[in-house]
Amino acid sequence: MNDPRTAGSTSNATPQATEPGAPRTPHVTQVWREDLAATRVELLRGLTAAAAYASPKFLYDALGSRLFEAITELPEYYPTRTEAAIVDAHGAAFAQAIGKVGTLIDLGAGNCSKALRLFPLLAPQRYVAVDISVDFLRDALAHVQRQHPQLDVNGVGLDFSSRLQIPPRSVQGRPVFFYAGSSIGNFTPEEAVPFLTSVREQAGGGGLLIGVDLVKPTEILEPAYDDALGVTAAFNLNLLLHLNRLIGTDFRPREWRHVGLFDTLRSRIEMHLEARHALTVAWPGGERRFAAGERIHTENSCKYTVPRFEALLQASGFARGHHWLDEQGWFAVFWAPA
Ligand code: AVJ
Repeated sequence: MNDPRTAGSTSNATPQATEPGAPRTPHVTQVWREDLAATRVELLRGLTAAAAYASPKFLYDALGSRLFEAITELPEYYPTRTEAAIVDAHGAAFAQAIGKVGTLIDLGAGNCSKALRLFPLLAPQRYVAVDISVDFLRDALAHVQRQHPQLDVNGVGLDFSSRLQIPPRSVQGRPVFFYAGSSIGNFTPEEAVPFLTSVREQAGGGGLLIGVDLVKPTEILEPAYDDALGVTAAFNLNLLLHLNRLIGTDFRPREWRHVGLFDTLRSRIEMHLEARHALTVAWPGGERRFAAGERIHTENSCKYTVPRFEALLQASGFARGHHWLDEQGWFAVFWAPA
């Protein structure tokens, strides 16, 4: 009845210190347990397929996450800074369209810099950052918490490439999902619909704020994915080192070349790794020969027009919302009410 543990604790659902000035420690959970056996099966299926492939999620080990951060600073890589400019130019309109935010759920949060821009505009009560690279996330969240000592900061280590399931208990109040940077482009349109549908189902009462890269001339798209300094090449080639560590393959990155090409018909950038000469890759229990010029497909980055993306949101059950563009019409941010 007079239990000191419950007395007076009406609204504080988090187990963290909340006295003014007391530093919080971000709560980070790894929902996704790395299942090495399943990862091995998945990777070897891709490596031994007639047209070899590996999921882009394998680009993001600790070094890969850092290399991607470096990509966002490159002059050729316009998406990150263009999206930021849209947020800066239309912040007030965003806030008005979106309304009150209980929990901001950041999908593929990375270094959390995109969400940091939103905090002053949306004033969420809780922040849940979701990313496959959990160690990278932990450092990023410590930084977020230092900048926003009173914000309720949480991390979820999760691979949501095949299924998105946010732990329901981690969401409080009106949910607003944030999927920045045009990462939706990693899904083909056919894959994006079931993914966006599951976001919509978990965003009941709230919605989705999503950044989408738009179709533009090949002369602008291709350098963004094949930059002069070779940072994107390093990012792509690093996948081979990650695979060596994960499943014991003996890839030698020097024997491979980075390829980043825009396929106008499919409206997507494709990244590949191309064998510079005939070679054999071996792993415990198997091997595969690659002819000179043979490729491993490592990423799609689909580009949309505004009407095509609106149709995708509608097909996923979202209501009509708003969208904002930069001055050049290179990138769009959509607000889609669930
Ligand atoms: C993180 C998936 C949005 O597709 O532009 C950058 C990844 N790949 N350069 C993108 C990426 C090569 C990026 N996303």
